[in-house]
Amino acid sequence: MSLLCSPFMLGSRTVRNRVVLPPMVCAVMPSLHAAADGAGLITPALLAHYRVRAQGGAGLVIVEAAAVHPSGQCWSGGVTVFNSGCLPGLTRLAAALHDAGALAGIQLVHGGPQGNTALSGPLLGPSAIDARPGTPRPCAMTEEELGNVPVWFAKAAERAVAAGFDLIELHGAHGFLLDSFLMTARNRRTDSYGGTPEHRMRLLLETVRAVRQRIGDTAVLGVRVSPFTKLEEGYPVEDYRLLVTALEAAGVEVLHLSTPAAFDPLFGAARSLGQWTREFTPLPRIVAGGITTAADAERLLAEGHTELVAVGRAQLANPNWAAEACAEK
Ligand SMILES: Cc1cc2nc3c(=O)[nH]c(=O)nc-3n(C[C@H](O)[C@H](O)[C@H](O)COP(=O)(O)O)c2cc1C
Repeated sequence: MSLLCSPFMLGSRTVRNRVVLPPMVCAVMPSLHAAADGAGLITPALLAHYRVRAQGGAGLVIVEAAAVHPSGQCWSGGVTVFNSGCLPGLTRLAAALHDAGALAGIQLVHGGPQGNTALSGPLLGPSAIDARPGTPRPCAMTEEELGNVPVWFAKAAERAVAAGFDLIELHGAHGFLLDSFLMTARNRRTDSYGGTPEHRMRLLLETVRAVRQRIGDTAVLGVRVSPFTKLEEGYPVEDYRLLVTALEAAGVEVLHLSTPAAFDPLFGAARSLGQWTREFTPLPRIVAGGITTAADAERLLAEGHTELVAVGRAQLANPNWAAEACAEK
């Protein structure tokens, strides 16, 4: 059996193969979303979108970034996990994934400086620095406000576990709230949440610990990271080492590594992000970025870049990508 199609023990769960559908916010039939009142209720169209990809063979389906709090919403009609009203839809979604033989994961997000002010109200961030030119300027969060963040994530994680999800992934990537604290370009704080790498990691680590404590070992806990959002600031590999070792110590069980291109070298040396990560921690990895063929996915596994392969846009284009990849073998 090929590596790609062989099962893998992910924390307390077994995933049937190594193919992951990474979180992807999908504007599936926005009119139906609108009918759901923007409350992130799971519409039939969204349910069908995920069900067919689980039926199409993906071992682990990670549902798109779901807002943990109203102030963290980014997408009109996006999935939300911020109150018990979200539970019936999320429960149907997790059950549909299980019925199709996949593990059910969900990514939890707070948009922070990249929120959508029409939904979130004033944007929250580490410092009053625009995320992108022309976008609304976030407010620098007070320490008291920061104390709420781990609680929002922990409560959302508890709801997701109650709905039946096997994996809780914290969105620590792509410039959203938790990642924005890691970025020196966005985080100019001089208190204990800014400055040194340890201070910039503080919010993410407090959040990981709060979630771990709240859900215990009822689900696998993962974090998505994206060093590329920091590379233009000259992000040193040492900061990355500190981050992944601290995440492991805080109770993270899988790291989801988001890259523009999974094989590409990083930090100026001939190692991929997956290979760097393995130098620093034994945690299992999911690698995403530009993987379209089964041959490339198999090569990533065989060369030790990762244990699980996230195939995003290629599974949007072809929901049966995983089944076809395994039938080819
Ligand atoms: C339409 C779309 C929506 C996305 N939404 C998310 C998201 O909700 N959370 C996230 O971490 N990444 C998101 N991403 C990034 C993907 O998870 C993935 O990392 C990226 O598409 C690269 O993988 P690929 O080359 O296999 O598509 C999104 C990407 C696309 C194309």
